Amino acid sequence: METLRLVLLFVHILGFAALLGGLLVQLRAETKSVNALMRDGSGTAFLAGLFLVGVLESLGSPDHAKIGVKFAIGLVILVLVMANVRKPSIPKGLYLGLLALTVANIAVAVFWSPVHA
Ligand code: HEM
Repeated sequence: METLRLVLLFVHILGFAALLGGLLVQLRAETKSVNALMRDGSGTAFLAGLFLVGVLESLGSPDHAKIGVKFAIGLVILVLVMANVRKPSIPKGLYLGLLALTVANIAVAVFWSPVHA
């Protein structure tokens, strides 16, 4: 089960790294949009995160408050990304909001005490 947790964590990290990369690559661009990196990254991070929760539940009692916060932020990111994936451009405010939420979820993951004992 530990190997499965590590594989899912690996996929989870690749997912949000793609999301963050898809955001940062357009930091200086005049026009912002939802690119394929953001679409696939947010979906991968979300699904792998859900599976991770399942694995952690079987390994012990994970911190549900932390997972709840990460789930909520992850869901908002996923909905905003998928709702705007077909648009030629997105408002700067939405772009900055997605960037802030992604960085916030990384901060929650790293600075909030470990999710499992
Ligand atoms: C864009 C969204 C997300 C980002 C940027 C993100 C970021 C991270 C990071 C940086 C870690 C590694 C932390 C560490 O090992 O100390 C992590 C682990 C984890 N994430 Fe996420 N996450 C996101 C979405 C989600 C979602 C939606 C869930 C599920 C509800 C989730 C559940 C988890 C769990 C359970 C772990 C711990 C894995 C473990 O230690 O075994 N994450 N996440």
